[in-house]
Amino acid sequence: MKKHHPNNNGNNKVELGIPGFNGLVPAGIDKNSVVLAAGTAGSGKTIFALQFLVYGIEHNNETAMYITFEEQKQKLYKDMMRFGWDLAKYEKAGKFIYLQYTPEQVKRLIVQGGGIIETIIADSKVKRLVIDSITSFALLYHDELEKKEAALKLFELLNKWGCTSLLTSQDESPYNGTISAALEFEVDGIILIYHTKVKGKRIRAIEVLKMRGTRISEKTVCFEITNNGLVIRPNKCVNI
Ligand SMILES: Nc1ncnc2c1ncn2[C@@H]1O[C@H](COP(=O)(O)OP(=O)(O)OP(=O)(O)O)[C@@H](O)[C@H]1O
Ligand SMILES: [Mg+2]
Repeated sequence: MKKHHPNNNGNNKVELGIPGFNGLVPAGIDKNSVVLAAGTAGSGKTIFALQFLVYGIEHNNETAMYITFEEQKQKLYKDMMRFGWDLAKYEKAGKFIYLQYTPEQVKRLIVQGGGIIETIIADSKVKRLVIDSITSFALLYHDELEKKEAALKLFELLNKWGCTSLLTSQDESPYNGTISAALEFEVDGIILIYHTKVKGKRIRAIEVLKMRGTRISEKTVCFEITNNGLVIRPNKCVNI
């Protein structure tokens, strides 16, 4: 029998690049998974997402694609420089692809079955993909069935593209499970990012709600935003 290493990041696993995250998903996340990171405004979703992309570029020489509806390029690049992530440099080297799309454009792409994005992903061999965020996209659909159908089509595309995808979702209250049922049903994993008040002070914490095919920690653990990005510090907090 093959010996199983708890932090196995072998060929079929993907290292997110968040120090301490392995404690939440000991066996690691499968490559080509579709993972949703949900959290309230300012909880750290965008930093989390860029850290995931930059890790792939810096450690695996992978190409990363960042699709956003909200984050302005110049401001994002400047903000991320504070963590030492030189997105402009990676973009020049063809390793980082920034795409600003309106929700309508993404809707059209889904109808077309991928369109230009699919071509770029194949040509540039994109391995890590982020959509930040899918909230505005979901708002395009008023009808639940239509929304569910669009989500299914989007996940079909993401699965077909052969990259590991991270979708962010701005959630007023992830604690009450307000994530759209359609999304919750389809994604392989759900990560909840909290910026919540405990005894009059806000703390940052993270939890894995679901990860298909593997055991997860049932704990919600604290993290910090450091000069190098997010770092999970499980021993730093109590009673969340
Ligand atoms: N260099 C830094 N050091 C420490 N904390 C930082 C740094 N840069 C940003 N932050 C904190 O990170 C938070 C913003 O993170 P981020 O933009 O990833 O959140 P978000 O969840 O994407 O927010 P939104 O929902 O508005 O898109 C802010 O609350 C800010 O306090
Ligand atoms: Mg954001």
